[in-house]
Amino acid sequence: MTVIAPELELTARALVAPGKGILAADESDGTIKKRFDSIGVESTEENRRAYRDLLFSTEGVEGYISGVILYDETIRQEASDGTPFPELLASKGVIPGIKVDLGAKPLALAPGETITEGLDGLRGRLEEYRGLGARFAKWRATYSIGENLPSEYCVWTNAHALARYAALCQEAGIVPIVEPEVLQDGAHTIDESAKVTGRVLQGVYTELRDQRVDFAGTLLKPNMVLSGYDASDRAGADEVAERTLDVFYRHVPAAVPGIVFLSGGQSDADATAHLNAMNARGPHPWQLSFSYGRALQAPALKAWAGSNVEAGQRAYYHRAKLNSAARSGSYAPEMETASV
Ligand code: 13P
Repeated sequence: MTVIAPELELTARALVAPGKGILAADESDGTIKKRFDSIGVESTEENRRAYRDLLFSTEGVEGYISGVILYDETIRQEASDGTPFPELLASKGVIPGIKVDLGAKPLALAPGETITEGLDGLRGRLEEYRGLGARFAKWRATYSIGENLPSEYCVWTNAHALARYAALCQEAGIVPIVEPEVLQDGAHTIDESAKVTGRVLQGVYTELRDQRVDFAGTLLKPNMVLSGYDASDRAGADEVAERTLDVFYRHVPAAVPGIVFLSGGQSDADATAHLNAMNARGPHPWQLSFSYGRALQAPALKAWAGSNVEAGQRAYYHRAKLNSAARSGSYAPEMETASV
């Protein structure tokens, strides 16, 4: 393992500062179009800019949000007053980040499985993004649970790519968020989710170590261990918390400063309740936090509906505040309906 500059560990620790988590606002063009379609808003460059402006300029949300993951288009855009987005965020003490993978593509000779692309030319892109203000990055690999899936081939190729990305990030002075997402679609049991998530993490940490990545300058962004979304008898919050913690205690080194969960297809309230249940069982060797996309944005998107900025900001602020409470295990479902 190479020992990296202290700056990387400081950035990683700032991203998981107590009471704070990350907003994932790095939807690719295809994904943001899907989100806008759901509220009947056309996905034009200006509408995408206006929506991100709403999120980034929400007053006071920096009390709950430590960093924002941007997309290639967004990191080059500006707030309505002409301030570049990375500058606007940094002025509030929010750390700008960037999605650098180019998406999960079909893995050759492996029907139903994917490999994430984007390594070619990554060194140059990281240098440019750092110049634009990015201090951390994200790369997402996906794995499906199914009959004989994921294959060992899929586990190892994605772990290898994640580690190559992470090493390039550290070399460039950027904190890599390592995101192996075991998709929770389907009818699998929570046992299957635990088994696959553990296997995937084992592969990822073996490759990170072999490729000389310093764990202290990284963050992990994983799925929670859940019953499949279509399973008939789904595990409740206590079981999710206990099974998820069990897998992470077995597979994630204590040198990693934080685990920042993705929300996947969980409802907003479930994503918050699950994080809360894990933190209520703390302290843990790592900070347990959030890096939610859908679970932070869904109510804001709906309230905004293309024009109502104030309602959108209120909804986003409320969701961020509840997830902040879940960082210390002090969230309660009654807070959902407290005045927004
Ligand atoms: P979700 O929280 O919507 O899963 O998004 C997080 C993310 O960044 C997925 O890559």
